[in-house]
Amino acid sequence: MTRHKRILWIGLALLGIGLVFFALGLGNAPSFTPQDLGIRNAVLETDAGAELPPLAYPTTPPGASERMPRSQENAPPMIPHSIEGFVPVTQSQNSCAACHNPNTAQALGATPIPPTHYALDLFSDTDTTSLQLDAARYSCTMCHAPQAEVDPPIANLFIPEFRNPDGQFSSDLMERWKEGVDLETGTE
Ligand code: HEC
Ligand code: HEC
Repeated sequence: MTRHKRILWIGLALLGIGLVFFALGLGNAPSFTPQDLGIRNAVLETDAGAELPPLAYPTTPPGASERMPRSQENAPPMIPHSIEGFVPVTQSQNSCAACHNPNTAQALGATPIPPTHYALDLFSDTDTTSLQLDAARYSCTMCHAPQAEVDPPIANLFIPEFRNPDGQFSSDLMERWKEGVDLETGTE
């Protein structure tokens, strides 16, 4: 075999191997469309065709709704009642703070705002008896949200563990926030 012929044969062999790999690659080509990839049944890149399920927010007024278990120990509770007319919370109007004020809450059947919201700066000697809301807690809906009635396509398997069984419906952060921290040295 001449040198040229040998090079030709090697070339052809390499081409053949290449073709086999190409064909294998085609066989394995993903058979998904962009619609199949997400859970919305819509084109993933553009959201075209996405139809969000209707979100049914609570319509029952305060006093007529049922409180929900907390999602974990000392998690902010979800709002079980309608908030129509109470939002947006503004500088001149905060009806949440009025009904949930510890002085009035009990008579209304509302959970009183906890002491943490009056003494957020827990590392200083803030007067915890004062009922002056800490500015960082003024806008309640930053952290508390109404819970819509939904049927999630992927179930949440998280199961919270409450050290105090009452923790499902009440918080005790004011008693617990120092847990595990030595304030003198700043270490654990
Ligand atoms: C008219 C009085 C009233 C107003 C205004 C009001 N609430 Fe309530 N809230 C209640 C009552 C009463 C409950 C207890 C559930 C029920 O009886 O409906 C409650 C329950 C809650 C809960 C659940 C507490 C728990 O222990 O699970 C949260 C959170 C809450 N409200 C936040 C808010 C926020 C935030 C606003 C303002 C956007 C607000 N509320 C406005 C009376 C009120
Ligand atoms: C920065 C986030 C944040 C803001 C703003 C906030 N909260 Fe909370 N809230 C929490 C967290 C976290 C908890 C649970 C831990 C605790 O008690 O501090 C809580 C707990 C509560 C509880 C349950 C108390 C109990 O004893 O079970 C009520 C009621 C409540 N908040 C009402 C309000 C109201 C009304 C406002 C507005 C005036 C407000 N919160 C603003 C984060 C917030």
